[in-house]
Amino acid sequence: MNILSFNSKEELDQHAAGLFAGLLARNPQATLGLATGSTPTGIYEKMIKMHQQGKLSLKEATTFNLDEYVGLPPEHDQSYAYYMNKHLFDHVDARRDSIYLPNGMALDLDAECARYDQLLAEKPIDIQLLGLGHNGHIGFNEPDDSLRGGTHIVELQEETREANARFFASVEDVPAKAVTMGIGSILKADTILLVVKGADKAEIVKEALTGPITTQCPASLLQTHAKVIVLLDHEAGRLLD
Ligand code: F6R
Repeated sequence: MNILSFNSKEELDQHAAGLFAGLLARNPQATLGLATGSTPTGIYEKMIKMHQQGKLSLKEATTFNLDEYVGLPPEHDQSYAYYMNKHLFDHVDARRDSIYLPNGMALDLDAECARYDQLLAEKPIDIQLLGLGHNGHIGFNEPDDSLRGGTHIVELQEETREANARFFASVEDVPAKAVTMGIGSILKADTILLVVKGADKAEIVKEALTGPITTQCPASLLQTHAKVIVLLDHEAGRLLD
């Protein structure tokens, strides 16, 4: 694992955007695995800026998002499709037919999971961006006695719904289910870019990166991957040596 700590979120975001720009310069047809939440917004801002400066193009790239809520249409302002348009896709040159998110409105969700896995098999991810949940979740792979490999439907844990309630009118409005890429799909990415910010994540960062590898902390499975880059701000990394 290559763990880098930054004094400011600004520097961290710039570094992450630079990694994407570098990959896309080497391989314009790269496949990017993307995430939502509060962690990547600054990275996407920097990517947009680099695009405006002619330093980053998604024209030939393919993107896959990790997850989507079940039951929220893309027009809903808390759907991850809406988030991605707002924070990245509306401002860069990505082709709409090369952008993939799980469809949380699919009538047959099992078929949707199979469709997503098929697409992932056809276009393996070169670099997967991940945020980290307070309970160690990645994507919506929550701590459990066992974890799933492929794309699947999850019941969101109360803790995760409460953490995400800040974006909804109330916790009851947070969807109870989501479609997520599985741990197996995440670990198939050539490179994983785990980004964590904030003092409230310091303990789970330490547990995930240095604790036992266990399904009770899904991010700990990243310790088994050969190419993980971890970008931490000073606060998130404060419990590491
Ligand atoms: C988002 C995702 C989640 C978040 C995690 C951290 O697509 O898959 O695992 O990365 O919940 O969220 P933030 O960044 O809001 O702290």
